[in-house]
Amino acid sequence: MLRWVILLTFIGICAGAAEQKRKTVKPNPLSKGWGDEINWVQSYGEGLSKAVRSQKPLMVIHHKDECPYSQALKKAFVANDTLQKMAKDEFIMINLVEEAMDKNLAPDGYYVPRILFVDPSLTVRADITGRYSNRHYAYAPEDIALLISNMNKAKVLLHNEL
Ligand SMILES: *[C@@H]1O[C@H](CO)[C@@H](O)[C@H](O)[C@H]1NC(C)=O
Repeated sequence: MLRWVILLTFIGICAGAAEQKRKTVKPNPLSKGWGDEINWVQSYGEGLSKAVRSQKPLMVIHHKDECPYSQALKKAFVANDTLQKMAKDEFIMINLVEEAMDKNLAPDGYYVPRILFVDPSLTVRADITGRYSNRHYAYAPEDIALLISNMNKAKVLLHNEL
């Protein structure tokens, strides 16, 4: 019985590779609802070069509009001012509805929502994980505290390396 309960606590995610066809006008089209204050970069390549130039870690969010787990995480992500401010000031930020086409960003597969960090030496920080053993880079709305602590991890290790 206990084993069933544990299995049921696994994270809800959506399978990858779905087609995305959507265009809506928003105050900041690059934010796609993840925070209009954040200076989102347009492409993964731009994110990488900005991470190098600024020496800030890059945070890569893969999500889908048609995925309810992505939507729920997005809601919690924009609602938290601490997280929003950190993202704005201390990270290069990108959110993607299409895969970035870097398999290093999918250490345990293609699914959404999925969040990975890339440090300014352009190493994907596969060691920074959420709390789900079946999907290491998935976060649920109740994981905002963990996400903030992982953002701090992404920063602290950078400073240690320098
Ligand atoms: C953001 O989330 C953290 C962790 O759950 C919480 O401690 C903090 O109060 C939240 N901040 C805001 C402004 O919502």
